[in-house]
Amino acid sequence: MPQQPVRIAPSILSADFSILGEEVRRIDEAGAEYIHIDVMDGHFVPNLTFGAPVVKCIRPHSKKIFDVHLMIDPVAPLVKDFVGAGADIITLHAEIAEDVRTTLEAIKAAGVKCGISVKPGTDIAVVSEHLYILDMILIMTVEPGFGGQGFMDMSEKIRAVRGMIDASGRTIDLEVDGGINPETAKQCIEAGADVLVAGTAVFKDGPEKYAENIQKLRG
Ligand code: DX5
Ligand code: ZN
Repeated sequence: MPQQPVRIAPSILSADFSILGEEVRRIDEAGAEYIHIDVMDGHFVPNLTFGAPVVKCIRPHSKKIFDVHLMIDPVAPLVKDFVGAGADIITLHAEIAEDVRTTLEAIKAAGVKCGISVKPGTDIAVVSEHLYILDMILIMTVEPGFGGQGFMDMSEKIRAVRGMIDASGRTIDLEVDGGINPETAKQCIEAGADVLVAGTAVFKDGPEKYAENIQKLRG
């Protein structure tokens, strides 16, 4: 099965929150395919960001794919809010306490795509039973919670997931998130990743550099 083209998903966690709509427009115009939206609850991860109302506020600023990465537990009570706010893909974590299958099915039933994310220490075998429904698998290359951390090499895991996706015959994005820069991006693409999240590497050096920063990640 051929891989899909590489797509870049800037994480707005590294944007200037005081002008978030403007920042979303800038990364859209700079060539991003996905807008990566990190939602943290201060419980599943030790950091707190924002919820569905903020997603709703930035939705009019871009028609690109809103890739919502939920680092929250539980997820199910908030699915409707994120769908209503304009999410295109909702990704939950494999490590949450609630039933993953039921929640993935609820996300799809609400009319959007669904994904599952695994922390660096989580065995990838946990995703296999969900392949039938998944639109995205997100491999974390840092411990979720903060931008700007050092990359953890997950090449072996990415290769294993690439094999699982190809064997499934389904079209499933293979996304990586955390510490992605032009060098680590190359490694991840070689291992089979096709969606790259980057916060620090996209937003550094100011808006006039966003397009160049995004281009450098494409390998
Ligand atoms: C970490 C978030 C990432 C993070 C990426 O928990 O999921 O999306 O913002 O930021 P960088 O690219 O700076 O590692
Ligand atoms: Zn993320």
